[in-house]
Parts: sequence; structure tokens; C-alpha cells
Amino acid sequence: MTEDIHYPDNFTKRLHLVWGDGFLSPGGPEEVSEIIKNVDLGGRTVLDIGFGTGGPAIHIATTTGVAKLVGIDVEPQLQEEATKRVVAARIADRVDFQIVDPGPLPFPDKCFDLVFSKDSIIHIEDKNALFLEIFRVLKPGGKLCASDWLGSAKPEEQAAMKKASEGTHLHFEMATAEEMETMLRDAGFIEISSRDRNAWFADLCRKELELFKGPLYQELVDAVGKNIVDPWIKARKAIAYSAFSGGLRPTHIFARRPG
Ligand SMILES: C[S@@+](CC[C@H](N)C(=O)[O-])C[C@H]1O[C@@H](n2cnc3c(N)ncnc32)[C@H](O)[C@@H]1O
Repeated sequence: MTEDIHYPDNFTKRLHLVWGDGFLSPGGPEEVSEIIKNVDLGGRTVLDIGFGTGGPAIHIATTTGVAKLVGIDVEPQLQEEATKRVVAARIADRVDFQIVDPGPLPFPDKCFDLVFSKDSIIHIEDKNALFLEIFRVLKPGGKLCASDWLGSAKPEEQAAMKKASEGTHLHFEMATAEEMETMLRDAGFIEISSRDRNAWFADLCRKELELFKGPLYQELVDAVGKNIVDPWIKARKAIAYSAFSGGLRPTHIFARRPG
């Protein structure tokens, strides 16, 4: 559990209006399905790191026949909202959201078939330690299928993202795809691969900026107030610019623990 609240109600409301109810990251159910499309989850156990308000986990649990999905997050106010969605979806017997302290995962060795995470690893500083922990809790042969906001290796592209992140209230610890692959290999993973989603995300950002000029703007203002929405849209423009210029690269990451 953390004392710092980065995802208060007035922020999750904004993200839901832009990215869909229960989603604090872009792409909605389609993007989640894209990340897990090559794994058969029927009867399997899944860990979701950074469950947010529950959208991705609920989509996985309702579409794949997982036996058990455990989600973890660090901000207590998210648990209540995510759990309400699970109860409404009538899957509380298979989905459990837990608040944890950042750091070692509170699970025994070799207990999950899949570790999933959607755009949450960016907030975790010590990724070497995280990947060792993910490796530890995966069963032999188990897989990591995740999406994360990665950075560019080019300094000029990094500069735009650094500027964009300074305009947000969030803390980003961005790695490049090459750094991620090295950390995963060092943790013991095999069959490591990644899929760059920059072009898709840049296009999405372009569409979102257009939506901010239409009725969505008033919906956002009605939900949280103009004093919050206006500076946020400015920050979103900087994030979009960073995606256009290549400094922000949402990326799917795949790896397997040897069997
Ligand atoms: C961008 S949101 C994504 C939430 C969700 N995965 C989604 O796609 O809607 C990032 C999430 O990571 C969580 N988070 C931050 N640090 C974390 C940590 N050390 N362990 C687990 N979750 C963390 C945040 O509280 C937040 O819910």
C-alpha cells in the first residue's frame, strides 16, 4: 500500500471518459485481447499487476475461462471500485483484488500460469527486482504477457517525453525495449519478444485530441471541473506529441519461464 495517491477519483473519471469504463490505459478490451491472444487461459491461474479500476482483469476473466485471477495494486481507493465491477460481473468467486506494498510479490513460488500487466510497470522503479519476482511466482513454462509504456533509445526523442512527463502528476520510470529484454534475460526468462505499439498509439492520440474539441470536453468539465480539465488536456497534448515524435512507445512484452 502507498500513502501517495496518483489515481484519485477525479483522475480515474477522466480516464474512464477517454479510455472506457474500468480502463486507466488506452485500447480497452480489444488491446487486452491483443496482448493475451496467443495464450490458452482456460482453467489457468493469472496474476494482474496494477489492476487499476478492474477493466482489463474483468475482460480477461469473462472472456478466457481462467480458473482464478488475482490482481494487485498499491492504491487502496482503487480496490473498492474494481471490486464493485467484479461483483456486478458476477465473477467474485474467480477474481480477487488485493492491495499490496510495492516490492516483493506476496505469493509463493510457482503459483501462476500467466503474469499479465497493462501499462503499470512504468510506475515500478526497480524493474530488475520486479522481473525476478515475476519469474519466481510463475510456474515452470508459465508466461509473462504485458504492455508497458517504454521510452526511446534516441536522446532527442527522450527529451520530448521527459518534458511531457514533467507536465503530469505521475511518476514514470521508463525503460527502452532493449533494456527490458536485457532485464528479462537476466531474470532467467526465455522466448523474449516485444511488439512496438507506437504507431497505433500515436493514431489514437490524434483521435483523442480531436475528441477533446467536441462534446467530450464538456463531459470532462461536468465530471471534474474546468480547472482540472484544461491543464490536463495541455499535458495530454504533450504526451501525444511525444508519441508522434517517437519518445513514447507503448509496447507489448512477452517472455516465458523455462519449463
Ligand atoms: C496506468 S494504470 C493501469 C491500470 C490498469 N492496468 C489498466 O490498464 O486500466 C497503472 C496502475 O499501476 C498501479 N501501480 C503503481 N505502482 C504499482 C506497484 N508497485 N505494484 C502494483 N501496481 C502498481 C497504479 O496504482 C495504477 O492502478
